[in-house]
Amino acid sequence: MALKITVIGTGYLGATHAAAMAELGFEVLGLDVVPEKIEMLQRGEVPMYEPGLEELLRKHVAGIEGSSGRLRFTMDFAEVAEFGDIHFVCVNTPQKHGEYACDMSYVDAAFASLAPHLTGPALVVGKSTVPVGSADRLARTLTGLAPAGEDVELAWNPEFLREGFAVQDTLHPDRIVAGIRSERAEKLLREVYATPLSEGTPFVVTDFPTAELVKTAANSFLATKISFINAMAEVCEAGGGDVVKLAEAIGHDDRIGKKFLRAGIGFGGGCLPKDIRAFMARAGELGADQALTFLREIDSINMRRRGQMVEMTREALGGSSFLGKRIAVLGATFKPDSDDVRDSPALNVAGQIHLQGGQVTVYDPKGMDNARRLFPTLGYAETAVDAVRGAHAVLHLTEWREFRELDPAALGEVAADRVVLDGRNALDPSAWRAAGWTYRAMGRPTA
Ligand code: UDX
Repeated sequence: MALKITVIGTGYLGATHAAAMAELGFEVLGLDVVPEKIEMLQRGEVPMYEPGLEELLRKHVAGIEGSSGRLRFTMDFAEVAEFGDIHFVCVNTPQKHGEYACDMSYVDAAFASLAPHLTGPALVVGKSTVPVGSADRLARTLTGLAPAGEDVELAWNPEFLREGFAVQDTLHPDRIVAGIRSERAEKLLREVYATPLSEGTPFVVTDFPTAELVKTAANSFLATKISFINAMAEVCEAGGGDVVKLAEAIGHDDRIGKKFLRAGIGFGGGCLPKDIRAFMARAGELGADQALTFLREIDSINMRRRGQMVEMTREALGGSSFLGKRIAVLGATFKPDSDDVRDSPALNVAGQIHLQGGQVTVYDPKGMDNARRLFPTLGYAETAVDAVRGAHAVLHLTEWREFRELDPAALGEVAADRVVLDGRNALDPSAWRAAGWTYRAMGRPTA
């Protein structure tokens, strides 16, 4: 009989995982503790912008015309326990207020709510990003609280999906990491992922601590790559080099590779910043803090970029104050193809300039509502052209395709001054310069 799957926590990770599991042919029951989220999902609506996710959801949510009916939602843990053979825990682990450590309260609550209902054999699979050592502790919680005792087992299966590519990354992952303690758990996970495994996705079997560490190590490496190239951008600025050419040239060495070497205003979002901080905090608890002191530098290079973008803008506007200056900000989300503004470098820069007296107008293709909620005092425009109208400087801060396709000549007609600062090194300098713009970018020569 086909496995029945439940997904606990239907945020970014969980909603995508639930839809993907239904797409792979399983009967799926998703649970969340927020009623509004469940109501939206039941209507086949996704609470965030993620390409392809709404279509996938509507293809499977029960009650939607023409759907497979394999995907349902509930708020009831007893129903979830009764329904599933395998329970994926996908709740979030944000940064704690005023601390580097991650907040495990949602994970702990999910386990505490589910376990007392588990009266028969089940596999619980953790997908949330957690500090090393959590799985071991949670395994004890499970067997302690579940009436089925040792028949309930834990596995740790970290998730590597990128926002903007969540569906693709979930259906065709580049690897599956399975932290397991028994052959039964491995067999069940191989059954769940039979389709991607048949396409050749590598399956890496590990113990619990390694599975937990793979995720934080991967994100730390990516953050390090970005901060490395941003440090090179600082040196290029000082020494007159071009960081874009430099990245291209070192990227030809396939030990280094071209990806994640785009210099600019740095990384943000709900994962990289909080994951490297939680990793440092956990290493400290374990007495291994020295091993990760470099991550403090990675974090500070990254945060410094935002301030440097503000200073570059000030310089471009004549060097003194932002008072009386109108600044157009193109981009509010932390990356393109997402509506996520959590720890967004773009909004941070916009906010700093605004707080220093600049008149900032933001436009973003998908992030406007979230940006407005987080930063209601900024100005917002309905289109890129409207944001640029009357501006003394244009800041390109999130590399949406729409911005690369803008016509610099047409924008030049509406801007007060033709000054563009590319915080993502993604616009074509020659096209902008040809249309009479002064183009400045981070880590590149001025002309
Ligand atoms: C990341 C990881 O990539 C993913 O594997 C993990 O599961 C969750 O965290 P995500 O947060 O979606 O995914 O964003 P990612 O694509 O990694 O980008 C992070 C940030 O780095 C963005 O702000 C992006 O603009 C920035 N970035 C990325 C750069 O500044 N330069 C680059 O070269 C690449």
